[in-house]
Amino acid sequence: MTAPDLSTSYLGLRLANPLVLAASPYTRRADTAIAIADAGIGAIVMHSLFEEEYTHAEEELEKTLSRGTDSFAEATSYLPDTGVEAPSPKKYGELLTSIKRKVKVPVIGSINGSSDGGWLEYASLIQDAGADALELNVYYLAAGATSASVVEDSYLRLVEAVRKRIKIPLAVKIGPFFTALPAFAKRLTESGANGLVLFNRFYQPDIDTETLSVVPQLSLSTSDDLRLPLRWTAILSSRIKADIAITTGVHSHIDVLKSLLVGARCTQIAAEFMHMGPSRVQLLLKDLEAWLVEHEYESVTQLRGSMSAAALGDPTEFERANYIKALRSYDDRLR
Ligand SMILES: Cc1cc2nc3c(=O)[nH]c(=O)nc-3n(C[C@H](O)[C@H](O)[C@H](O)COP(=O)(O)O)c2cc1C
Repeated sequence: MTAPDLSTSYLGLRLANPLVLAASPYTRRADTAIAIADAGIGAIVMHSLFEEEYTHAEEELEKTLSRGTDSFAEATSYLPDTGVEAPSPKKYGELLTSIKRKVKVPVIGSINGSSDGGWLEYASLIQDAGADALELNVYYLAAGATSASVVEDSYLRLVEAVRKRIKIPLAVKIGPFFTALPAFAKRLTESGANGLVLFNRFYQPDIDTETLSVVPQLSLSTSDDLRLPLRWTAILSSRIKADIAITTGVHSHIDVLKSLLVGARCTQIAAEFMHMGPSRVQLLLKDLEAWLVEHEYESVTQLRGSMSAAALGDPTEFERANYIKALRSYDDRLR
């Protein structure tokens, strides 16, 4: 039997397999990004350029220029190189270009922010640096009194603004906390998103009860965290005209298979590679291939979406009815 075809398409790009490096520290250095590409990853998402970095660079520029007017003698010497430390966006673009030159897989740039402002220039910078696509990570915590519809509208404005700036495909990475996700997801695609990345893993601070302080905590995911993106991908994959990438909780080839079964085009993985290193890619691919052979699938495409809510014909499997069934399953387990 010939080896199964692991290739998939995502955002119009051909990926040799559905394993994608999620935005993570791996791309902060060219050598680690190249190591994971050499191990056989299907595509690379760069770490993000953050809106705050833009604001910071602007403030630094402002400070330098006003310092210049106070000390007249030096003023002109500030201007040629502005005195501002080489802005990180420029370095980011250079890093992306150098990674892109050295790897054969698609490289997706990433920006992370929440407002529709000057920082969106980063989108063009990333396109010009040679990215194959852009991922927009909207990390917005609606902690104020803003209503859901206002928040959603601001996402859509942001997506439209980015779409206008670039020609390359655009994926939008969002969190899971939306009241009516299918309707919102549809509007995101209408605003120009070619893909959705489900879901952003939010930083969740903890409380230290001894020091009564807030502890910044970024705990890495486990496979249990996959359930949330799995359910929503099952519900959304046949309803929206965008490719879905699952992120959060993909650690094993079984997690990859589940993601494909519910309709994801690829899986974006960070924590597992951070624990295990680049060689984990080869093992995941080997296990994925072995599973497909054992279950007589010829390709990833053949299996994709066969367990989406639409394919099952009974969407309630992923909805309320099964919740009641799950609760009842505990009835006989009381001590
Ligand atoms: C240390 C670390 C850095 C990350 N940096 C970014 C980032 O720059 N931009 C982004 O969109 N996501 C970032 N993420 C989120 C990951 O891309 C990924 O979506 C998330 O970790 C869930 O996947 P996982 O369960 O495989 O870790 C980061 C995650 C970790 C653990």
